Amino acid sequence: MKVTPDELRCKYLEFFKDHNHHIIPSSSIVPENDPTVLFTTAGMHPLVPYLLGESHPAGNRLTDVQKCIRTSDIDEVGDASHLTFFEMLGNWSLGDYFKKEAINYSYEFLTSEKYLNIPKDRLYFTVFKGNSFAPKDTESYEIWKSLGVKEDHIFYLEDNFWILGSGIGPCGPDTEMFYDTGKPACSDSCSPLCDCGKYLEIWNDVFMEYYKKEDGTLEKLKKKNVDTGMGLERTITVLNGLDSVYDSDLFKSIKMKLEELSHLTYKDNLNSFRIIMDHLRTSTFILADDHGITPSNIGAGYVLRRLLRRLIRHLKKLNINEYVLNDLARIYIEEYQDIYPELKKNEEVVYRELEKEYNKFSKTLKDGERLFYKTIKHLDNDTLSGKDAFKLFDTFGFPIEMTEELAHENNLKVNIAEFNECFKEHQEKSRTIDAGSFKGGLADHSIESTKYHTLAHLLLATLQEIYGKDVVQKGCNITTERIRFDFNCDHKLTDEEKQRVEDRVNEMIQTNTPVTFEEIPYEQAKKEGAHGTFDSKYGDIVKVYTIGNLSKEICGGPHVENTGVLGHFKIVKEESSSAGVRRIKGILE
Ligand code: ALA
Repeated sequence: MKVTPDELRCKYLEFFKDHNHHIIPSSSIVPENDPTVLFTTAGMHPLVPYLLGESHPAGNRLTDVQKCIRTSDIDEVGDASHLTFFEMLGNWSLGDYFKKEAINYSYEFLTSEKYLNIPKDRLYFTVFKGNSFAPKDTESYEIWKSLGVKEDHIFYLEDNFWILGSGIGPCGPDTEMFYDTGKPACSDSCSPLCDCGKYLEIWNDVFMEYYKKEDGTLEKLKKKNVDTGMGLERTITVLNGLDSVYDSDLFKSIKMKLEELSHLTYKDNLNSFRIIMDHLRTSTFILADDHGITPSNIGAGYVLRRLLRRLIRHLKKLNINEYVLNDLARIYIEEYQDIYPELKKNEEVVYRELEKEYNKFSKTLKDGERLFYKTIKHLDNDTLSGKDAFKLFDTFGFPIEMTEELAHENNLKVNIAEFNECFKEHQEKSRTIDAGSFKGGLADHSIESTKYHTLAHLLLATLQEIYGKDVVQKGCNITTERIRFDFNCDHKLTDEEKQRVEDRVNEMIQTNTPVTFEEIPYEQAKKEGAHGTFDSKYGDIVKVYTIGNLSKEICGGPHVENTGVLGHFKIVKEESSSAGVRRIKGILE
């Protein structure tokens, strides 16, 4: 049978509405009440407080379609079935109906002509076999039987007990519904218990009557609840007899656009197409969420960065070198906006952040890949060292998983243990920096702080242009997030002056001037007019960084290769540092 995503959503919500359920909107992609995870991973996630006994304002029978993200299998994306974003249809009883009604509703929705109209003999079921903590669920078994399901279509299974990934919280035995794809059996013992692909799970009814505590023991909840989940993408795929989730209508337009942009076909480039389609959809939903997550180096922001950087690499693999992310994201925004209005509402944020991350990464990607290929040419075994992987991470912003993927494509491994050691050292260093104990100079060698270091040179050059050659740098403190720059000046800067400084720095950035260096004798550097603030610390031979005719400074580096990668400079604060010294706090956006 053919069912479109829209039809499935509408039918599901309509069915449960007709059975006195209240339709609630999807919650945020970030759970409000669970600090242990970064993203909402199941339809029930936002409902945990209500499953534990709080009363829900919309009543005790609810239904919705919830946006979810699961990144535990992110590396598997590229195959036929894995996705990092998915929609989950669900219905809940909060202390209202229990097993009998829940199973009846499920069966009616799956089999009735008005809804999914699945032939009854194509359906199979599993129920909980019991273990030392909770008894066998004979009740559910009997309920299926009472509906006319034959015994050889029902299986007991010990795994049928559902709880959130954290392993703590409301939980209970479940009964799962499988669709027989009609493919040949893999063996005489082929059943829904095997994973050969003949039987695919499409729905799960969880009977939440327990709470699992941190010590692993179960206690009974105040009320018995029902929590069900039907993955939209998977169900569409199965019911339409497709081989891959990526063959469904959900990816049709984006696939066509990618084929048009790359002049390549999906079928010959499955891996890259799927990674791009999946990761961009997930990123678009994360960026459009009202939580305001943007790419960063920690938490949910880092997951987002990983997704974006990996997909940017795959765009380049398809030879798409111009900036197309906004055009691609627009396709998803248009397609999903009726169900998830936040996509349209936050459209500009999505485009802005995509472009920012693209600009940040596409240049270092090229340099990093160059370094990668140069390094592997000289390898005498099949493993890239952790140090090299860390350099790619630290200097070129390569998420480690991306380096692993790149290594894998070249039949190599990465020494992850060594990488982790380098990373830990780096973290310890960053913590010292965060604590403010690192004064002067460069905080670390990450691409972010490297940019701020180059910015410091442009800022000094600007201040000298505006206030005269006597201006010197009195101090500079850099983190990956901002610069604090002190200089001699006898007055508070007016708003116009601040604007002038900001504008001139941005003008310099936009000249896309290469940053070069040479190592020359100190005296010669001085003669050539290089600025050096802390003369005493230099030896005989010094490194001089030149930014076209904008700046020349004695400095240890490192610096970015071109001013263009800095982005946009903004002064966030201007204040007094000490007598006759002003301090500018600025950020790059
Ligand atoms: N919470 C259950 C699941 O996600 C329904 O499978």
